Amino acid sequence: MTTLTIARPDDWHLHLRDGAMMRAVLPWTARDFARAIIMPNLVPPVVTGAQAAAYRDRILSALPDGMAFEPLMTLYLTEDTDADDVAAAHESGLVKAVKLYPAGATTNSASGVTNFDTVRPVLDRMADIGLPLCVHGEVTDHDIDIFDREAVFIDRILDPIRRTTPGLRVVMEHITTSDAVDYASAQDDTLGATITTHHLVINRNHILAGGIKPHYYCLPVAKREEHRLALRKAATSGEKRFFLGTDSAPHTDANKLLPCGCAGCFTAPNTLPILAQVFEEDGALDKLEGFTSKNGPAFYGLPVNADTLTLTKSAPDLPSHVDTDDGPVTVFDPGFDLHWRVT
Ligand code: DOR
Ligand code: ZN
Repeated sequence: MTTLTIARPDDWHLHLRDGAMMRAVLPWTARDFARAIIMPNLVPPVVTGAQAAAYRDRILSALPDGMAFEPLMTLYLTEDTDADDVAAAHESGLVKAVKLYPAGATTNSASGVTNFDTVRPVLDRMADIGLPLCVHGEVTDHDIDIFDREAVFIDRILDPIRRTTPGLRVVMEHITTSDAVDYASAQDDTLGATITTHHLVINRNHILAGGIKPHYYCLPVAKREEHRLALRKAATSGEKRFFLGTDSAPHTDANKLLPCGCAGCFTAPNTLPILAQVFEEDGALDKLEGFTSKNGPAFYGLPVNADTLTLTKSAPDLPSHVDTDDGPVTVFDPGFDLHWRVT
């Protein structure tokens, strides 16, 4: 097979940032994706409907002329979130999900949730109105090993939340373990799970063996090879609950290459060439469209995009860095030569 045409993909988990960074990275997403779920972890976070509306306007004004892209906005859940404001933002069509960050779990998560009982009324309301909760699934306890934080979160936080608020639609974001794949696979269709590009490609050796590779550091951190293989199997299975959320998370090289560097892999420019190669290697090119373009809309109750995207088998011409007014941002290096290009 040398060309593949699929319904235009969407990205169900994206960090666009703001200002100069957003202006530089947004065209890379808009080139290949029709829509994206926009993460709200700005400083300060996007908490209210009014803040989400203003952020959406800034995104649309940063979009280059002639490019089409629909930002699907989210609200950042805090212990002070007002359920009425959330419901109104959903009702107006502005907001497509609410994002739960356990406080301290990752970049700009300080305003997240510590006591999960405090957000119960908001979650109950979301269950009533069918608004999904996107979950960063890691506990933050210092005594829990970072490689175990996702599995412990599922047992201690996620499953209890789903039992206490039945019917709540939940997306397990950027899953990284076979534990998460197994949990997701055993649930009903109120549960979806996104998988990133980079977690299909790297395991923890890529970060740590033979010298530390800051550009491979992200959260949740990549795990053992057996977990990467479980994610590959889930993504390429065609199973509807698994869909693409790149978690493309740009940071300047200056902020990545610090003694305490930022977490995030910037995959927006080369996600589709990488995924085509991953699915091809696993003999599952026929499942790529489900993962990138169909399963996500089905979960969110949105139509599949009417236009298409074509991949052709030839080496893509992609930059290793994207320049921003804040400094260069390194594009995720999959560690192999790419041989599919978006045409
Ligand atoms: O690697 C990550 N980067 N994981 C997250 O959860 C946040 C993100 C970011 O905003 O940089
Ligand atoms: Zn993220």
